[in-house]
Amino acid sequence: MDQYHPQPKRPRRLRRGVTLRDAVADISIKRDDLILPLFVTDKDDPQPVESMPGVSQLPVKTAIQSIGELTDVGLRQFILFGVTSAEKKDPTGRFALSADAPVNQTLAGVRDMGHDVTMIADLCFCEYTDHGHCGVLLPDDPKTVVDNDQTLDQLRLAATCLAQAGADVVAPSGMMDGQIQAIRGALDEASFTQVCILAYSVKYASSLYDPFRDAGQGSMQFGDRKGYQMDFRRSREWQTELQLDIEQGADMVMVKPAATYLDIIHQVRQACHLPLVAYHVSGEYAMLHAAARQGWLDLKHAALETTYAIKRAGADLIVTYFAKELSKWIR
Ligand code: PBG
Ligand code: ZN
Repeated sequence: MDQYHPQPKRPRRLRRGVTLRDAVADISIKRDDLILPLFVTDKDDPQPVESMPGVSQLPVKTAIQSIGELTDVGLRQFILFGVTSAEKKDPTGRFALSADAPVNQTLAGVRDMGHDVTMIADLCFCEYTDHGHCGVLLPDDPKTVVDNDQTLDQLRLAATCLAQAGADVVAPSGMMDGQIQAIRGALDEASFTQVCILAYSVKYASSLYDPFRDAGQGSMQFGDRKGYQMDFRRSREWQTELQLDIEQGADMVMVKPAATYLDIIHQVRQACHLPLVAYHVSGEYAMLHAAARQGWLDLKHAALETTYAIKRAGADLIVTYFAKELSKWIR
């Protein structure tokens, strides 16, 4: 028998033709991996968000109707943000506790319509406070900015309101210490033991939220959020935040932003067995749109590639403003 002479391996063999490439692809995105953010307003007409092409603030009625329609393209997970007009804002964000707040009305409406969807409610005060920070201010201490424990009391109330209105999941995004325990306690006391908590556990103070603040009208009147959101120069701090949120009863955890924090997503995936959500944020969305508008890249291909990257890093679920388009683009 002739001696076997091994040839150098030819990786291109498995790239020959689309059928074989599809067969050996090991990462896939399914519609149920996607969570679409929606901004709801008490205005009568949809208000386009300039820095986020394709995104509008929706009147409550329109939002409820859209959610019904989006189930037809296979989207079943939504996260709601409220847009509050200036005259309803105050120092503690009391309007968040009102059944009239657009988020609460949308939740109630979706439940009335009987849509079989998972409704997630973002839980924070920056959309409701006149100063735009994520909680109650601590005026005498400019370094701390937001009073942690007073904000916890408010979060307890707001979480209960959202559950009452019909949220399946509440998603505290304000990065207050102890917020998961406080909210779990409040929900349980009010017999909302079935309502899940999606913890924004690993949330960095990022410039990539700027278009969102345009969308949610949540710009701060002064200062920044570095006193409560995480510092991107610290590479290990996520372990502390993650551990605390798990101990306190988080059902799911989030890393945010996503595409610029793939290393963090990957590490959190290894460290924790809970469902992991990654938030592809407004600035990451806006950047792709801006480049596509210039004709510098193809929006569909760039958005797909980015979403695959987030998935490949280890995210189970992805919050993305591209959810509707992706639901058509994925096979
Ligand atoms: C509010 C909140 C923000 C985002 C989600 N919830 C803004 C912020 O923390 O400043 C950002 C979402 C995005 O940029 O798409 N706490
Ligand atoms: Zn906030």
